[in-house]
Amino acid sequence: MKIGYVQFCPGLNEPEKNLADIERLVMSAEEADLLVIPELANSGYNFASKKQAFDLSITIGDSSFINRLVELSHKQNTHIVCGINERDGDKLYNSAVLVGPSGLIGKYRKLHLFMNEKDIFEPGNIGLPVFDIGKARVGMAICFDWYFPEVWRSLALDGADIICHPSNLVIPGLCQRAIPVHALINRVYIITANRFGTERELTFTGLSMIAAPKGEVMAQAGPEEEVVAVVDTDIAHARDKKATERNDLFTDRRTEMYRRLIDT
Ligand code: ACM
Repeated sequence: MKIGYVQFCPGLNEPEKNLADIERLVMSAEEADLLVIPELANSGYNFASKKQAFDLSITIGDSSFINRLVELSHKQNTHIVCGINERDGDKLYNSAVLVGPSGLIGKYRKLHLFMNEKDIFEPGNIGLPVFDIGKARVGMAICFDWYFPEVWRSLALDGADIICHPSNLVIPGLCQRAIPVHALINRVYIITANRFGTERELTFTGLSMIAAPKGEVMAQAGPEEEVVAVVDTDIAHARDKKATERNDLFTDRRTEMYRRLIDT
């Protein structure tokens, strides 16, 4: 199965340019079964006000942006995960959608909001869903979610083979160090699709990556490069949780000893 990331520089308040960039980059991609596009790719990230965020939001089910993603997915015979600024009634969510050639498959709403996102978005309220796209089971996490090992573990325990991670990372280096480790200890593929560029006082760190179930970095972008990278994977590697012939990383867990993890 071929999986990849799209790294680019979305513009704040430039939805037409962002869609045009996404279309150009996805159409330029080599054959892939799954492509991941950064967080808030329709709108940009660093909103000057909640009103600006509302003006740049889209409603799932009534969005020309998502319709265009589905058309792209159909044209390229691929699946796409893309970060969006989602409006639901009078609420906004920092979300990701999963689309395939025949339409919308699912969505995820970011659980762990970073810094001033707390002034704009509601925290996610639909858990950590996993979707079967035929060749693999796919989960999603968004940017700052990376800091919470529970996110990767829950998705892996629920059967995700690939975790798609649309991002707008700003803390230099840290997440890129953690991703191969999250992949290794959960034996999953992770696709971090980050952005680059600057919006007001925030600079984004690029260095998108794909990590494999034994922690290998299979592809990594430069810090300021517009690029699409696709790698070939073997999903059987994500389904093999054996660390040795006598150790299965999931069935060896001592869950009765981990009660603290679910205390508040
Ligand atoms: C982030 O969660 N966008 C840093």
